[in-house]
Amino acid sequence: MNRSQHSKLVAGYFSSIAGWYDFLNHFLSFGQDIYWRKRLIRHVRTSDKGIVMDLAAGTLDVSKELLKKNPEIKVLALDYTLPMLVRGKDKVEFAGSKIFLTQADGRTLPMPDKSIDSVTIAFGIRNIVPRDEAYKEIIRVLKPGGRLCILEFGTGKRRIWRGVYNFYLTKILPLIGRLISRDKGAYSYLADTIKGFPASDELALEMKRAGFSRIFYYPLSSGIVYIHVGEKKQD
Ligand SMILES: C[S@@+](CC[C@H](N)C(=O)[O-])C[C@H]1O[C@@H](n2cnc3c(N)ncnc32)[C@H](O)[C@@H]1O
Repeated sequence: MNRSQHSKLVAGYFSSIAGWYDFLNHFLSFGQDIYWRKRLIRHVRTSDKGIVMDLAAGTLDVSKELLKKNPEIKVLALDYTLPMLVRGKDKVEFAGSKIFLTQADGRTLPMPDKSIDSVTIAFGIRNIVPRDEAYKEIIRVLKPGGRLCILEFGTGKRRIWRGVYNFYLTKILPLIGRLISRDKGAYSYLADTIKGFPASDELALEMKRAGFSRIFYYPLSSGIVYIHVGEKKQD
């Protein structure tokens, strides 16, 4: 599958489940996703009036948390599936919130060099192929010392979880997702992307190779998800 076919497929999946996305997220993670995103934004570094980019922002749950925590900042919420952004719009229209919704591809960011304080990406990086192009763009737009904060599913390789987790991921989750969203492919696609994604230590190495420094990462909920943080080197 070439680059643009992949993009069309991903945007098609997310357009078809946009209406159910929040419900499915909360339901299938037993509400844990809310806590995971709150943990993610603890690592964001920005000044009071800074700019944070929420990449692959989807229905804006991370953007909302960012604005709640730092009411003065500007949030650039960027995603290439418009129905996802539209679905989330109401969540961020509280008093004074400064949010800019942008339909764009994470591999070609429409922002100038060194203009962003921090970038968040929750459950998005595994959808972007090739990831290197996104890293390159993120480094370009970040200010020196700016952070990339990633929240993503683990690979379920920890022995204690492997059996249950893989069964849940490959059987239960696609079934529930299919019944509710009526999209045959979307949740099998999710399981496939999680399985094909690097383990936490490999992802950290990948970030290092892409040029990030001071990388750290840790699991949440026994490794169901991981947070990875890296910094753009100072000039
Ligand atoms: C699983 S959702 C995550 C949404 C949100 N960040 C959250 O925490 O729920 C993944 C999102 O990534 C977006 N996406 C996938 N590939 C992308 C790309 N190349 N550029 C921008 N957005 C992309 C999809 O449209 C989708 O909204």
